[in-house]
Amino acid sequence: MNNKEEALEALKQEMEQDTLLPLKSANLVFGEGNADAKVVCIGEAPGAREDEERRPFVGRSGKLLTHLLLEVGFRREDLYITNIVKRRPPDNRDPLPEEIEAYKPYLFRQLRILDPKIIMTLGRFSMNYFIPEGRITRDQGKVFRVNGRLVVPMFHPAAALRSTQTLNALTASLKKLPLIIAQADMLLRKAL
Ligand code: URA
Repeated sequence: MNNKEEALEALKQEMEQDTLLPLKSANLVFGEGNADAKVVCIGEAPGAREDEERRPFVGRSGKLLTHLLLEVGFRREDLYITNIVKRRPPDNRDPLPEEIEAYKPYLFRQLRILDPKIIMTLGRFSMNYFIPEGRITRDQGKVFRVNGRLVVPMFHPAAALRSTQTLNALTASLKKLPLIIAQADMLLRKAL
């Protein structure tokens, strides 16, 4: 394990032991992937399949995400994938504001360890963590600079499973990713 992996493991243990976190009856889905990745993908909250496997994005929307990432040249293990809320809300309901608040400090610390150049948010909940005024239909596919990182909001793959228009928009936005990665340093400097 390298230093980042060790720090992530320690953070995960801390989360497991935090009795104040909500949704404690569900399994912790901490996140997985390459700790040195330039891109971290952040979803909303785990679903039933993710809860069972304790891995993010392994259900239907995860399979679509994995497929779309491959189409633009990324294996999911090349990136790091996690969620803002790291336990499954019952009946797949949206996470509550107080659940998001409770899990936020851990996402903050996870990102401080990972230190990615680019954050790809999936859906409005994780977009709004970085861009409180953001609107997903208006802002998806755009590049924002937030605290020295590039944040690229994208539609959630679950929404793309329900609408061809959303799927096309998500696909088009993902296609921009290789260029955003190639230009990340320039975009970060330019935005200063
Ligand atoms: N949806 C999410 O937002 N995250 C997951 O891990 C799975 C589905």
